[in-house]
Amino acid sequence: MSTNFEKGATFPGFIRHVCWKRVIHARLLRPIHLFWNTLPWLCLRPHCPSHYPPLKWVGGKRWLLPELEPLWDRDRRLVEPLCGGLAISIGLQPRRALLNDINSHVIYFYRWLKRGFQITLAMENDSDLYYSYRQRFNQLIRSGQADSSEAAALFYYLNRTGNNGLCRYNRKGEFNVPFGRHKRIKYRRDFGLYRHLLGGWNFATGPFDNLVLEPGDFVYADPPYGVEFRQYPKHGFAWKNQVKLAEWLAGHTGPVLLSNQATERIVDLYDNLGYILKFVKGPRRISCTGDRTPAREVLAMRNLSNMM
Ligand SMILES: C[S@@+](CC[C@H](N)C(=O)[O-])C[C@H]1O[C@@H](n2cnc3c(N)ncnc32)[C@H](O)[C@@H]1O
Repeated sequence: MSTNFEKGATFPGFIRHVCWKRVIHARLLRPIHLFWNTLPWLCLRPHCPSHYPPLKWVGGKRWLLPELEPLWDRDRRLVEPLCGGLAISIGLQPRRALLNDINSHVIYFYRWLKRGFQITLAMENDSDLYYSYRQRFNQLIRSGQADSSEAAALFYYLNRTGNNGLCRYNRKGEFNVPFGRHKRIKYRRDFGLYRHLLGGWNFATGPFDNLVLEPGDFVYADPPYGVEFRQYPKHGFAWKNQVKLAEWLAGHTGPVLLSNQATERIVDLYDNLGYILKFVKGPRRISCTGDRTPAREVLAMRNLSNMM
């Protein structure tokens, strides 16, 4: 048994030291430890894992939560037509939600989370393993098994281990993100906590305008930025999609919130359709020129009672 007991101390002193350690552990530390470990089930603990998105996602909007929380109305159903990494839904924790993305693999993964997912696959930050799993994932896609639990486990592993959480496909629809060279990766195996959170949520996959909205739905839409076209080659989001999304949501009778990069034409698009605009600073980026200024983001809103 290793102890911090100082060298040269007397034998009775050592006994007393060990006894005190036991008392402190049994009377004080153990109850605190037990209490702390039960809190995730109540979802009160500040760092409750189910408050964190399970995947890394390009363009994730976790940083926007402080802006959105005061506008959110928890009595409504939340609809995210382009839900991506789920940062907003997981942050707002609606009781009812409809979450859609054109990327079917991410939606299949969420459907497994909803069932209480456990990963048994061996996961290691190793390039040989990464490429063999990538090959297996693509094989499953080709053989029509992209919605299997094996594909969902591989998708999680590829997302954590691949380059920057990218989700990129070649023309044949095969996942082609290279190995990520991360120093250390913490893999999660047990996703049981998400089951409670996702219980009342429905998932759909397809283009955003396939969704059928209910009149009172609270819609949050976060389309890919214009400058990020390269990251969605299979599901390219051209300018006509930006226009279609803005117009489609302008016809919704419930609350609508869009976030986007505040480029001139995006701002004009929302402004001309009568959205109320608010500008916020995005997270700091370091561009290839070394520019560290935060990107400007626009929040476009309509039918919100508390628009500020
Ligand atoms: C910026 S990401 C959303 C990020 C998300 N808000 C988050 O915080 O994690 C945009 C998402 O739109 C999806 N997407 C692109 N084109 C789409 C379309 N036509 N219909 C639905 N989803 C689309 C992409 O797959 C991507 O996941």
